[in-house]
Amino acid sequence: MPENALLEKLLSKLWEDYYDLNPSAKKIHDLFEAQGEQVVNDHIALRTFNHPRLGIENLAGFFKAYGYQEKQDYHFKEKKLYAKHYENNDENLPKIFISELLLEKMSPFTQSAIEQFVLEIPREALHKETFLFSGRQWKASHQTYLKLAAESEYASWVYAHGFRPNHFTVSINSLRKLTDIEKLNQFIQSHGFSLNTSGGAIKGTPAEFLVQSSTMAEPVEMKFQDGTFKIPGCYYEFAKRYPMASGKLYQGFVASSADKIFESTNRL
Ligand code: NI
Repeated sequence: MPENALLEKLLSKLWEDYYDLNPSAKKIHDLFEAQGEQVVNDHIALRTFNHPRLGIENLAGFFKAYGYQEKQDYHFKEKKLYAKHYENNDENLPKIFISELLLEKMSPFTQSAIEQFVLEIPREALHKETFLFSGRQWKASHQTYLKLAAESEYASWVYAHGFRPNHFTVSINSLRKLTDIEKLNQFIQSHGFSLNTSGGAIKGTPAEFLVQSSTMAEPVEMKFQDGTFKIPGCYYEFAKRYPMASGKLYQGFVASSADKIFESTNRL
C-alpha cells in the first residue's frame, strides 16, 4: 500500500474511534453533509502527559513516519500544558495538534496516579500506531477521576478515556454556505447542541488569522471499577483561517483561544 493510503487508513481509524465515543460529532458531521457540504478536517487534537514513555514526541513519531513535520509550539501556563502542531506537505491532510500535561507541575497525588497507570500499559502497545486510539489500558476508579479533576480537568479526561482523539475540527474555509462562524454557531445551536462559551462562543479574531468555536463535550457513560458514571466525552470544533500578508492562509494556532477550547471537556 502506498504511504498515503496507510496514513488515510490511520486517519479514518481515528475518526471512527472518535465518533464511536461521540455520536453527537457524527450527527453534526451528517448535518453539514445534509446541507450539501463536504466536511474537510482542519486538525485532529490528541492529549497526553510529558511522561518519558508517552510525551508529545512519542505520539508525534507515528505521524512523522508519514511525513508530518513539527511547525510551532504553544504554552498554557495556567493549565500547565504544552503543545506542538504538525503539518503534512499535502495541505489537504489535517494538521495534528498534540498537547501534554506538565507532570512536574502537578501535585504528588496526581504524579503518582499517572505514574501508576502508565506502568499498566503493555510496553509493546506504546510502539504501535494503534496506541493513538487504544483508549484506556488501565484500571480506573471514579474516585481517583474526581480527585484528578479537582486539580486538572485535562488529567482526569486522559485518565478516564485513555489515548484517543480529543477532537476533530470542521474547516469552515472548506464549507460553501456556512462560511460565517456566527451563522454556523447558530446552525449548531438550533439543532440542540451547546457551545463552549468560555471567553465567548467565538475564540480569536481575524487579526489573529484564526477564529474558532466548539461544542461542549456531551456526557458519555463510563465504566469505572467503582461503578458507571456520566463524564464529558469529546467535542467538535469549527475553525476559520484568514490569509496572512503573503496571501497564504495562516496554519498555526492561537494559544489564548486554544486555552479556552481545552475547557470544552470540563465537567459542568
Ligand atoms: Ni482544536
